[in-house]
Amino acid sequence: MLNPRGIIERYRDFLPVDDKTPIVTLHEGNTPLILSEDLTQRLGLKVYLKYEGLNPTGSFKDRGMTMAITKAKEKGCTAVMCASTGNTSASAAAYTARSGSMRCFVIIPEGNIALGKLAQAMIHNAKVIAIKGNFDEALNIVREVTDNYPVELVNSINPFRIEGQKTGAFEVCDELGEAPEFHAIPVGNAGNITAYWKGYNEYKGAGKATQLPKMLGFQAAGAAPIVLGKPVENPETIATAIRIGNPASWKLAEAARDESGGLIHAVTDEQILEAYKLLAASTGVFVEPASAASVAGILKLKHEGYFDGHKDARIVCTVTGHGLKDPNIAIKNVIEPVVMEADLKAIVQEIGL
Ligand code: F0G
Repeated sequence: MLNPRGIIERYRDFLPVDDKTPIVTLHEGNTPLILSEDLTQRLGLKVYLKYEGLNPTGSFKDRGMTMAITKAKEKGCTAVMCASTGNTSASAAAYTARSGSMRCFVIIPEGNIALGKLAQAMIHNAKVIAIKGNFDEALNIVREVTDNYPVELVNSINPFRIEGQKTGAFEVCDELGEAPEFHAIPVGNAGNITAYWKGYNEYKGAGKATQLPKMLGFQAAGAAPIVLGKPVENPETIATAIRIGNPASWKLAEAARDESGGLIHAVTDEQILEAYKLLAASTGVFVEPASAASVAGILKLKHEGYFDGHKDARIVCTVTGHGLKDPNIAIKNVIEPVVMEADLKAIVQEIGL
């Protein structure tokens, strides 16, 4: 079996752990890399989806959180804290519960986190505080608290988070037998693009891949500080997971972009929703809106001719979180079910058989 006990066991040689490290795992990672025939046809190059929604708490955060909570436990910490647009808090809450020895404090922007994520943080028994403010303000408070009290910060500025998340790139290379030519990814606080780029570089350094992909990052147009070149004070987007105006790993994301010869562009909420619905209806993969930003981005680039001359290239899109995280957005964007009597004949007629 490729992934007996999660990413730390699988990629131990590339991670800062030893025999005595008390691994806290929910058997994360080993997520499917799905070839989308529909997107391949639309783009004219092979499009793979790295379906991170199939991690234990439904997002890529689990890769980083198994490392962050494991290292916190190794250090003897009894409490961790994060700011979150939802997924980090869900993951931190689950992994601290799993640790059996730590409490979890979470600060979220009130009214701007998806229902499923809030449910997760609460059911795993985190102490959740919703502030009348945005993610950037929440993160500032978390930095202050963790600087001054015996509480470990588990946002992606914690280097162990990046260490864990880089294993996404390892899995892609292991599955393809090589790094892809392009890697598309949504950008919020900018930890994940940083992590993938680190992962690709380390794998190439270890002789496990011979090339590096161009990193293609996508922000939501209403929350696109890196694209604009300045912080956005009041970020707004339907993709609440990436509703961030001042990303902590801003410079590292720019480095990933520039070193790889890639780009970071913006996509509108309309484009995100279009890609969101397309992925669900034409590939059968249900993701949350922020995840669809990567697919919206490559569809936009295709339209602009960016991929001309790359016919046989492979592009991997990290689709970061499961669609069930945010059921309200899904319901708002579909036609409501037809309500009928429990009458066989009428139903057959309605279906048009
Ligand atoms: N996609 C999803 C579903 C996310 O939850 C996030 C970030 C991103 C993309 C962007 O990743 O921040 O590494 O650039 N969510 C964080 C959170 C901010 O609090 O859950 P990034």
